[in-house]
Amino acid sequence: MSGGTIAGIAVGSTTGAMLLTLVLYFGVYRRKRKAESCLLPRASEDKYNQLGYGYGSSIEKTSESGVDGASPRLIGITVDKSVEFSYEELAKATNGFSIANKIGQGGFGSVYYAELRNEKAAIKKMDMQASKEFLAELKVLTHVHHLNLVRLIGYCIENCLFLVYEYIDNGNLSQHLRGSEREALSWSSRMQIALDAARGLEYIHEHTVPVYIHRDIKSSNILIDKNFRAKVADFGQAKLTEYGSSSLPSHLVGTFGYMPPEYAQYGDVTPKMDVYAFGVVLYELISAKEAIVKTSELVNESKLGLVALFKEVLSQQDPKEDIGKLVDPRLGNDYPLDSVYKMCELAKACTHENPQLRPSMRSIVVALITLSSPLEEWDVSSLYNNQAFLPLMSAR
Ligand SMILES: Nc1ncnc2c1ncn2[C@@H]1O[C@H](COP(=O)(O)OP(=O)(O)OP(=O)(O)O)[C@@H](O)[C@H]1O
Ligand SMILES: [Mg+2]
Repeated sequence: MSGGTIAGIAVGSTTGAMLLTLVLYFGVYRRKRKAESCLLPRASEDKYNQLGYGYGSSIEKTSESGVDGASPRLIGITVDKSVEFSYEELAKATNGFSIANKIGQGGFGSVYYAELRNEKAAIKKMDMQASKEFLAELKVLTHVHHLNLVRLIGYCIENCLFLVYEYIDNGNLSQHLRGSEREALSWSSRMQIALDAARGLEYIHEHTVPVYIHRDIKSSNILIDKNFRAKVADFGQAKLTEYGSSSLPSHLVGTFGYMPPEYAQYGDVTPKMDVYAFGVVLYELISAKEAIVKTSELVNESKLGLVALFKEVLSQQDPKEDIGKLVDPRLGNDYPLDSVYKMCELAKACTHENPQLRPSMRSIVVALITLSSPLEEWDVSSLYNNQAFLPLMSAR
């Protein structure tokens, strides 16, 4: 081979190698950029993420059982679904807000079943006007998503206010506990419902900025889906109604029987207010009794709160036998007394008169996980700073 040929081959192969390197480099680089851009939220989502609405803003979890909310960021971004609906669209979806579509009536308005954009929805027609603060709050609320919170899809303002929620198709907890047409909930189902509701509350207490306080936790605000999993309804409603109307003073928020003493007496609003009401719901899950019960043992059939009823029994030397008498008769003997007793202790801690001695929702979630898992061996007491809670843990 001549020197010229060799030089030609050398130049040719060097150029070829360089070209190949360039092609490979740009190929990999572009693919990487593309992958990154898929994970980047849009500008509006970013704003909410910075505000701390991490799970909420348009980030959907894929796993229905993803109750621990682990790493939702890894799953992907979907479009922003908060929507302002027109009155015409809502009227059409509810057959003109017909009586046949009405599924409930609460303290703030009526709730209607709707078929909206091929999805089931529940529309709450509020008896109030919207203010500017109210609207700002609504927009934030549509971005708070959690598996155990009933999602606010959107709203409509036309004379009165309409809130559009995801539809939860199996009624509320109060109906399941006391409705004669419903089958009795098993003990394990009751523990799952307690844990689901606790997780919804833990989320609003600890993972949103600003922190939210529900203020109206009760069994009719815990909705049950077809898999008997629970979601907390009306989160944020109390705050909305504060802005909404001067004719609705804030002391109307909350329901008798679920109100802690510091709120009833001084109007103190802290997350421990929800903890107290959650404790009352735990007593309801155990006994299926209303938060306010009539007891024939009392003179003149006075009304006694569930808290007082259980407190009396739990203060006995050996309360287990009498606790058995308070358990929902529809459970028959189909419940582990030990587990019921621990649930009572948890409810007692939640309803402690001193709000500071009530556990946080986070501690409650951990306790309920421990209670519902017979194989759980870890030393839960080490997770607690709360003195009022230690007897429950040491009971294990
Ligand atoms: N998203 C929903 N999906 C299905 N049913 C719902 C939904 N929201 C409410 N409901 C039903 O409508 C009923 C009335 O709800 P509403 O919130 O107006 O009243 P409440 O929960 O009894 O009291 P409050 O006004 O204090 O919340 C609920 O008890 C529930 O059964
Ligand atoms: Mg409600």
